[in-house]
Amino acid sequence: MQVKEAISLAWKIDDIPYDQIDLDLVRHRDDIFYLLAASSFVEFLSDLTTRNLLEFFEGDDEVAGWLRRQWEHEEVQHGSALREYIGHVWPEFDWEASYREFYDEYSQVCTTEELEATRCLELAARCVVEMGTATYYRSLAQFAPEPVLRELATRIKTDEVRHYSYFFHFFCKYQPLGPTARWSVLGALKRRLLEVRSSDAEIALWHAFRSRYPNADREGRDFRRMFSEVSGLIKAHYPASMAVKMLLKPLELSPTMAHWVAPPISMVARHWILR
Ligand SMILES: [Fe+2]
Ligand SMILES: [Fe+2]
Repeated sequence: MQVKEAISLAWKIDDIPYDQIDLDLVRHRDDIFYLLAASSFVEFLSDLTTRNLLEFFEGDDEVAGWLRRQWEHEEVQHGSALREYIGHVWPEFDWEASYREFYDEYSQVCTTEELEATRCLELAARCVVEMGTATYYRSLAQFAPEPVLRELATRIKTDEVRHYSYFFHFFCKYQPLGPTARWSVLGALKRRLLEVRSSDAEIALWHAFRSRYPNADREGRDFRRMFSEVSGLIKAHYPASMAVKMLLKPLELSPTMAHWVAPPISMVARHWILR
């Protein structure tokens, strides 16, 4: 795989026909509002994540160059495109203020210490993150009630699948540099699976929720009910087989082994996101 040197995004925000959004189909959907606000927050964090990753991959021009010139720009564009959609549908939402609160909390937990011990394991863990976003946007594209949102979710999903391929390519590059036992890779996959849920989705959804209910209690019934509603929506349309394929790839299992572990992994994959 050739890593491009120049920035060339697969699509631009101007390609999204925001003026054709059918407000009647989506404006009343609080669940969609919370999901999109939370997703836009997480996507915008890429500058923070990129800084951590660049530090970690210092000296590897192929990985660092791709992160800087391609990955970060595409992730931030996802955030901008979602924010633009929210602005058209829910113009009363103060995105900046809500994002600032989210950022203050999240930046405390997202540090280089959270990264895996080796580059190889971190790259395996990044495959989990991209698997999570790719399957989430695929699910969103399925249940989105409005055509422009479906188009946007599909475009983002395609980018996330490509990001996965790059991280997997880099993972393979590091594999021959040292024997990384399958159990270590499995541990990295598991750790990131658990972490993605607690440190990203819940914090982001909480700050989206607080924008409408400033006096809400994070452990209270209202937030928990919203959390389980959006979770149910994603799960009902979750592409579990896609998740399993993407999760198993870095483990390089034999076809027989893959056959045996696929069903339990599929069950975990269906429930891991927003449990
Ligand atoms: Fe993204
Ligand atoms: Fe991505």
